[in-house]
Order: sequence, then C-alpha cells, then structure tokens
Amino acid sequence: GLSIAKVLRDTDTVTYDPGFMNTANARSAITYIDGDNGILRYRGYPIDELAQKSSFLEVAYLLIYGELPTSDELAAWDQNIRSHTMLHEDIKAFFDGFPRNAHPMAVLSSAVSALSTFYEDSLDPFDEEQVHISTIRLMSKVPVLAAYAYKKSIGQPFLYPDNSLNLTENFLRLTFGVPTSPFELDQDMVDALDMLLILHADHEQNCSTSTVRLVGSSHANIFGSISAGINALFGPLHGGANEAVLNMLDQIQDEGVSPEDFMDKVKNKESGIRLMGFGHRVYKNYDPRARIVKSTAEKILNKLGSNDPRLEIAMRLEERALNDDYFIERKLYPNVDFYTGLIYSAMGFPPRMFTPLFALGRLPGWIAQWREMITDQETKIGRPRQVYVGEDLRHYPNAK
Ligand code: ACO
Repeated sequence: GLSIAKVLRDTDTVTYDPGFMNTANARSAITYIDGDNGILRYRGYPIDELAQKSSFLEVAYLLIYGELPTSDELAAWDQNIRSHTMLHEDIKAFFDGFPRNAHPMAVLSSAVSALSTFYEDSLDPFDEEQVHISTIRLMSKVPVLAAYAYKKSIGQPFLYPDNSLNLTENFLRLTFGVPTSPFELDQDMVDALDMLLILHADHEQNCSTSTVRLVGSSHANIFGSISAGINALFGPLHGGANEAVLNMLDQIQDEGVSPEDFMDKVKNKESGIRLMGFGHRVYKNYDPRARIVKSTAEKILNKLGSNDPRLEIAMRLEERALNDDYFIERKLYPNVDFYTGLIYSAMGFPPRMFTPLFALGRLPGWIAQWREMITDQETKIGRPRQVYVGEDLRHYPNAK
C-alpha cells in the first residue's frame, strides 16, 4: 500500500512534484484504486459487481450520495432526472454559432459552461438545495447537450427528449433518432452503453476530476467547474485516448501495417508514437475496466452483427505488448480506452463522439467529487507552489 507522508505546512519547504506523481490534493471516500493489483471500487463496491448487476443511474446515486439507493429512492432519482431533461430554447440557439464541423467535446464544454448563465438560481456552492438542483440539472441536461452536439455535426434536427425514457435510453434516441420516424431502442445496445457508462463513472483524482476540484476550490460554480473538467478530458492523453485508439487502428488497417511493425515504431522512442489505450499513471497491472470491456467487446460486437477487423488488430497488438519486454518493464497494460472505441463504433457512434461518451459516464464522478470537495472542511483553494528558474533581478534599460 501507499505510505502517507506528513502534510507540509511550513512556507519555506516546497515539494517539486511535476504531474503530482506523489502528491495527494484531496482526501476522498468515493473511489478506491489499488493500481498494483488492478482493483477499482466505488464506495467500496467492486467495479465488476456494479458493471454486472447495477445500472448507470444507480451507480451515479451511489457515487454522489455514498450509499446504494432503496428502490423508492432510485425511482425518485430516475423520475427527477427524467423531468429536467428539457433545455431552455435559447440554449438550442447557442449551437447555431459553432461551425458545422466543431468537435462535439468543444461544443459540450461550452454548452455546459453556458448552463450557468441560464440557471443563476442554483449557483451558490454552499446552499445545499441549490447544489441539489444543479446536480439534477447536470445529470438531466448533459446527455441532451452531448446528443445535440452530435446532431449539430451531422446537420440533423434536434429532437425533444422523451421523458418516458431513462437517461441512457433518452440519450440513444436523441443521438440516433430522427423526427420523421419512430425510434426503436435496441435493448442490447442500451445495456452495453449503460455498462460502459458505469465503468467510466469515477476514477478518483485523474486529470479532469482534479481540474473540477481545483476550479471548484475557488468557489466557482459547479457548471463552470465541470465544463473545465470536460476540457481536461478532451486531451488525447486522457479521455481523448478512446478516439485516438480508433484512429490508430484505422491507420494500421488502411496502411496495411502489420501490428508487429507498428509495435516496433512505438518502441522506437524517436518516432514519438505511443500505443494509445495503453499505460496508466496508477494501474501498473491490467486495468480492471479494460478486462470487463474486452470480455464484452466480442460478445457485443457479435450481438450487434458487427464483424470489425479492427478487433483482431487490437487483440494482436495487445498480445504482442503483453509479451514484449518494453511493455513488461514499464508495466504498460491496456487501459479502459483500448477496447471501448470498437464497441462505440459498432453501435454507430463516429470516433468524435467517443470522448463525449466518456464525459457522460464521468459526469456523476465529477459531481460527487465537487460536492465532496466543497463540503470538506479541509479544502483550501488549490494553489500549487513553483520552483522559479527565471532571470534574477535586472533593470529596464532606458527611459523612452
Ligand atoms: N506507448 C508506449 N510507451 C509508453 C506508453 C504508451 N502508451 N505509455 C507510457 N509509455 C512509456 C513512456 O515512454 C515512458 O518510458 P521511459 O520510462 O522509457 O521514458 C514510460 O512508459 C512511463 O510513461 P510516462 O509517460 O512517464 O507515464 P505517465 O504516468 O506520465 O503517463 C499515460 C500515463 C499518459 C496514460 C501514458 O501511459 C500514455 O500516454 N498512454 C497513452 C494514452 C492513453 O491511453 N491515455 C489514456 C489514459 S487512461 C484514461 O484517461 C482513461
């Protein structure tokens, strides 16, 4: 296990720790990770039990409120989220300002930030009732905004949410439905997406979550804090990796490169090419989420009738990596992003929607962490120190 060093409080001592390799910025009761042994638990519950038995809405409740809901609590939570899906009509107009080919992650972060302009009545971070309303608004409206970001990119009209559907069902209908014909939900697809959202729902102090906490530590509102988190997630070293993995597999397929030759390029540091979807700051073992995704990828691809040759390429890359000294020495294993793109692709999502799907899954984690941060008496404004390496005092040469 980790040993915890004493918190330094004297102002003369500074810890220089780029990337926070060894610095904890929060105490948290939400998610437990044991990176050496590939263990992930939300509020104490193992991720594989939740993925198998729970639902995304239930997991969201668990993360945010700390306990599994009773069936009445779950029904009320679901109903509350369903009844807040409608967006202010003016938010829809907001989408008109973006170029057609705008990346949906950029549109989503802007739209979530814009929510704070429409809901000034729920911005006080210290008013419990307002935080509750913002929580519901985010859970209800972010899936709608993500679907609209997609519709915008393909030039199709926005659909109004259908509140007879739950969050995951509504999102699928808003994404793939058209106003001219009734939309039929595919239960296999609903179940698969719901499970993937559970796997993404929290991951303790990753880059986007730390961003949400840091922004929130200035007592900025929750919409702005989460919008910042979405931007952090956009980066290819973080959530953007799921899109990058599929682009990598496409490239290998299109150029007819053998997985073996591609791996040689990755190992040659000068190429600057990384095996996307591999490696993790905390997991030095198989990412337990990747294990679940991999075992379901084949099943789901079959069910959805997809025979994607890129699955074969991905499996060959993995097999190669797990037997290669470069990867073994550095303890590089597949992370959650390695196989998810193949499933999303089989469902009909274009690669640019993969990271918004991650954002949708991570939303309850961000909300839970922001709420924990704001109510923790030990929280202080996030303000790292620096090691100054610039010029010594010098004087401006001449007067004008
Ligand atoms: N392919 C090839 N080499 C790699 C990879 C990779 N994917 N990841 C790490 N390495 C190598 C590094 O070059 C480095 O080698 P060195 O010690 O010889 O210099 C060593 O492994 C350690 O890597 P760092 O970059 O120092 O590890 P860090 O903890 O800073 O980075 C990260 C973790 C960003 C996830 C990294 O592994 C990476 O870039 N992976 C690819 C992108 C990716 O899949 N990101 C998703 C992360 S999970 C998530 O957000 C859901």
